Amino acid sequence: MIDPNAVPMRTLSNGRKIPCIGMGTFGSDRYGAQEVSEAVAGAIRCGYRLFDCASVYGNEALIGEVFAQAFAEAVVKREELFIISKVWNDMHGKGDVLLSCAKTLRDLQVDYLDAYFVHWPFANYHAPGCGGDSRSPDAKPFSTEDFMTVWRQMERLYDLGLVRNLGMSNMTIPKLEAVLPLCRVRPTLLEMELHPAFQQPRLYDYCVGHGIQPVGFCPIGSPNRPARDKADGDIVDIALPQVEAAAKAHGIHPALVCLKWAVQRGQIPIPFSVHEKNYTGNLQCVTEDPLTEEEMEQIRKADQNCRLVKGQVFLWPGATDWHALWDEQGMIAR
Ligand SMILES: NC(=O)c1ccc[n+]([C@@H]2O[C@H](COP(=O)([O-])OP(=O)(O)OC[C@H]3O[C@@H](n4cnc5c(N)ncnc54)[C@H](OP(=O)(O)O)[C@@H]3O)[C@@H](O)[C@H]2O)c1
Repeated sequence: MIDPNAVPMRTLSNGRKIPCIGMGTFGSDRYGAQEVSEAVAGAIRCGYRLFDCASVYGNEALIGEVFAQAFAEAVVKREELFIISKVWNDMHGKGDVLLSCAKTLRDLQVDYLDAYFVHWPFANYHAPGCGGDSRSPDAKPFSTEDFMTVWRQMERLYDLGLVRNLGMSNMTIPKLEAVLPLCRVRPTLLEMELHPAFQQPRLYDYCVGHGIQPVGFCPIGSPNRPARDKADGDIVDIALPQVEAAAKAHGIHPALVCLKWAVQRGQIPIPFSVHEKNYTGNLQCVTEDPLTEEEMEQIRKADQNCRLVKGQVFLWPGATDWHALWDEQGMIAR
């Protein structure tokens, strides 16, 4: 058990507090809802207070049972947890975001979320567990108008007090430039892929400069990610020489170096594991023995712009390849 008070907190732009590290709950198509929810139960006992959930992970109902039991047994109070969930791409129509949030609240057995995210910035659907070459014939490029249809519902949920922070995920600077001026309630959090080999310095700095706290997914480089997210040439973060050198110097697993680096840089990593030894170590490592400035600098230089979750299953007919999803030319790809 790690004392949750020993885990540093960050303050969001609206003054609300959030732990500097949380636990992911995507079973990576390997672990079912039962295993993931058991890990959440263990993680609460071990001191985690932030959980990154999503309706598409297919496990919110069982995680909700775990939360309910933890509250009933006074293991933790609701107000001590920071619970994130996300609306999935097939619920972007008028009214759908409200329905999706209602289902998540019911499944998680809570009457508010600490943060609610738009999981992907378009309605392009892929079936859970699909292969990397799966495509939807109905997929469309990003549309500011369609995104704002979603965001107006997010703002409604915020107004109702059902969600306390709004967040976006898998965004780019051009898309943020298009939508931020239109937001009445601005996002305080943005979830993005962040690990030593993929540091996204421009998007990271853009978020910080706009009062948006980055949350980093795949913080360990997601070594067991689904096959659809694996490609030739992908870098293995825990085998980077700079990460291995720091691991050796501190006598720890390279995974923990990735998490220390993430927290010391300023993002909120949300590592996933169903193994008690690993998830306990992941939380503990951010409370002790920080990386040196020199180690931080060496890892900064290890960036290789290696995106792992390329998102090609969301491509629309006629799109060139997955790079189109990330507006690499500096404007929104249509
Ligand atoms: N917004 C989005 O679009 C999006 C996309 C992807 C992910 N996410 C979120 O981000 C979370 C984390 O991403 P992820 O699970 O893909 O990647 P990750 O956290 O980088 O990697 C998880 C893997 O690392 C291993 N691991 C964890 N702790 C370890 C340790 N201490 N030592 C050695 N190995 C360790 C785990 O293996 P074992 O199971 O063997 O411990 C697991 O397979 C997800 O669960 C989800 O909540 C969000």
